[in-house]
Amino acid sequence: MNANLEQIKQEIIAGAEVLNSSKEVYEFKKKFLDGKTGKIGLLMKEMKNIPNEEKAAYGKGVNELKEWALTFLGEIDEKMKAKELQSRYEAEKIDISLPAEEMAEGNLHPITLVKNEIIDIFAGMGFEIFEGPEIETDYYNFTALNTPQDHPARDMQDTFYLSPEFLLRTQTSAGQIHVMEKKQPPIKILSPGKVFRSDDDATHSPMFTQMEGLVVDKGITLCDLQGMLDEFVKKIYGEGTKTRLRPSYFPFTEPSVEVDCSCFECGGTGCKLCKGTGWIEILGAGVVNNKVLQNCGIDTDVYSGFAFGIGIERTAMLKYGINNIKLLFESDIKVLNQLNDK
Ligand code: DAH
Repeated sequence: MNANLEQIKQEIIAGAEVLNSSKEVYEFKKKFLDGKTGKIGLLMKEMKNIPNEEKAAYGKGVNELKEWALTFLGEIDEKMKAKELQSRYEAEKIDISLPAEEMAEGNLHPITLVKNEIIDIFAGMGFEIFEGPEIETDYYNFTALNTPQDHPARDMQDTFYLSPEFLLRTQTSAGQIHVMEKKQPPIKILSPGKVFRSDDDATHSPMFTQMEGLVVDKGITLCDLQGMLDEFVKKIYGEGTKTRLRPSYFPFTEPSVEVDCSCFECGGTGCKLCKGTGWIEILGAGVVNNKVLQNCGIDTDVYSGFAFGIGIERTAMLKYGINNIKLLFESDIKVLNQLNDK
């Protein structure tokens, strides 16, 4: 082989030893194989100085060198690219064997759970939902419910007044009036919502939740109320639970009752929860006072009704065994997780 060609071949072999990246291979290759300006390309220009009888052998030699260089550097390029790909894979590797970070899962608040449960039970008995306003007039919250201005029963509820006329409702009973004003019997509604009273201790909060129930139709009596409540306590506190009615007083019901259920903790034998009595007070109720029906334009010769009011926080406290209402409002995730049914 022409000495010049041999020298270039050795130059390529030596130069290739120190190549470190596909980019360097590319630059190096260009130096020798870039068309007519690369070192091998330039060899062809030498043809005119080669004696005629050697021209054929020289041309063949240049072509062979070119073929060899293409293969030789092509292989190096391939290896370099494979190595580079490998190190990119290494750098981008994700260790899927690491334990995943635990994701906190949200739950419904115990108040919502209890509210939904009560709604489910009564919806199954054909009750519809009505949600009244939280800001009420004195008329809806008190007067229409047979509690006029100077009535002593007003002292039963410490009211937040917004003005002489407007107040934050103290009871969902106000919703009864809205419903009866709009609709003639038969009426069968459930009215959940927030109520407000200036009251604050371990078992009372200035804002709490009530669930009002109202049924008005022909021939409704206290027996209907008790029959329905019997079903309710069995569903919410367990099959063996019974009810007991005690006389009480509410201006909007006559007669009025306080409803107890047999203690679901001890079954009625007496324990800490029922304070040894075997009974737990769960709600207020009664036969709707005729004056209330008349205030809403309902004919009391034809219709009668019963109503009840359940405290949701109280129900949740009994159900989950909590003795401080504040635990339901502090949103402490450790407490809420313990109260979840899941
Ligand atoms: N509104 C009463 C309260 O907040 C609860 C109540 C008692 C509602 C008797 C009623 C009822 O509908 O008939 O203390």
